[in-house]
Amino acid sequence: MTTPRFVGRPHWYTTFNPETLAATGTPLRWGVVATGNIAHTVTADLALLEDAVLQAVSSRSESSAAAFAAEFGFATCYYDGGPAGTGAPGYVQLVQDPTVDVVYIATPHAQHYDIAKAALEAGKHVLCEKALTITAAEARSLIVLAREKQLFLMEAVWARFVPGFQRALEIISSGEIGEVRWVRADLGFPAPLDDTARIWAPADGGGALLDISVYPLLWAWATLGKPATVSATGTLTALGVDSENTLTLGYESGAQAQLISYLTAHGPRVATVAGTAGYIETVGSVNNPKGLRISVGWNSERIEEFEYPGSGYTYQLREVTRCIQAGLSESSTMPLDDTLAIMELFDGARRQLGVSYPNDTRTDL
Ligand SMILES: NC(=O)c1ccc[n+]([C@@H]2O[C@H](COP(=O)([O-])OP(=O)(O)OC[C@H]3O[C@@H](n4cnc5c(N)ncnc54)[C@H](OP(=O)(O)O)[C@@H]3O)[C@@H](O)[C@H]2O)c1
Repeated sequence: MTTPRFVGRPHWYTTFNPETLAATGTPLRWGVVATGNIAHTVTADLALLEDAVLQAVSSRSESSAAAFAAEFGFATCYYDGGPAGTGAPGYVQLVQDPTVDVVYIATPHAQHYDIAKAALEAGKHVLCEKALTITAAEARSLIVLAREKQLFLMEAVWARFVPGFQRALEIISSGEIGEVRWVRADLGFPAPLDDTARIWAPADGGGALLDISVYPLLWAWATLGKPATVSATGTLTALGVDSENTLTLGYESGAQAQLISYLTAHGPRVATVAGTAGYIETVGSVNNPKGLRISVGWNSERIEEFEYPGSGYTYQLREVTRCIQAGLSESSTMPLDDTLAIMELFDGARRQLGVSYPNDTRTDL
């Protein structure tokens, strides 16, 4: 029987612990880079952790940095060109701040590499939004640097830590649905086409693959592992980024997965994991299911539901905190080797789709 990959690791259950907000050690002083959509949502959850200190925020603009700092109560704010008068970008000033322990990067994908590199070189731990980078080569370079410096680095795939996902893995590992034979998952939303918006712009690593596919893929990766074959099909915009894609994965056992990501449609956003004895289906979105439908045989079905504080990001934030407090340089629930293997899978999928980015040709790694 297939064993889900994250099960059996001792801290796996702590992510499901209702005490997620309680301090687990010395408070960590956080620096947040960028003041956009996800920076707001994650910082609101970060503020719920008893051992999180909102130390500094950086933005390209003074007004955004100041407004964000005032909204959440950050001690310091930095912006491009000031306030230190160095003329340096805000993030460069933030990573040099000796009162910051860990940097959370919430810019578009295309800036992740440079900011994470600067933070690691300045001796900071890093939590970086997904996709960690645009290319596997960039991801490999950051991972080597973090390991050399023995600093914590993690891609912010929060969906690995949420209760609905962790509980699904627990059920699957118990054998209740038998051997996993196929996985089907979809995620997306209709986004108005705007070639200048970060999710569409080639220079920002736009497209459904880098923005969305990590979530449907998670369900196949956790239950079936790294696939033997990957077939990617999709539709490209006039500027050559994928507005939708389907990844079809094949496994040595004959098991299969079909994963659909889209910026074009209202879809069910559901993950289904089917085994020889039954299946699990998410109730609610694949990246943060509020419930699970567990169906065994022909006549047995139950729903399990989950409650959690904030927007669901506290679990990954607790994991980052716990790891750094314990002196660990990576999370075994979101290991760097998984990030790299998935970035390699995405590089290969992009070749099949015909999607290329300016970062593909960078020579400075
Ligand atoms: N984990 C999740 O659930 C989740 C959800 C959404 C997005 N994300 C990820 O988070 C990242 C940001 O997404 P978002 O939706 O928050 O985007 P967003 O709303 O556009 O915010 C990004 C912020 O980054 C800064 N920024 C924009 N362009 C920049 C550039 N060229 N150079 C440097 N900084 C720039 C801006 O902040 P300043 O003006 O303050 O500099 C901007 O507000 C993406 O990598 C995305 O994949 C994750």
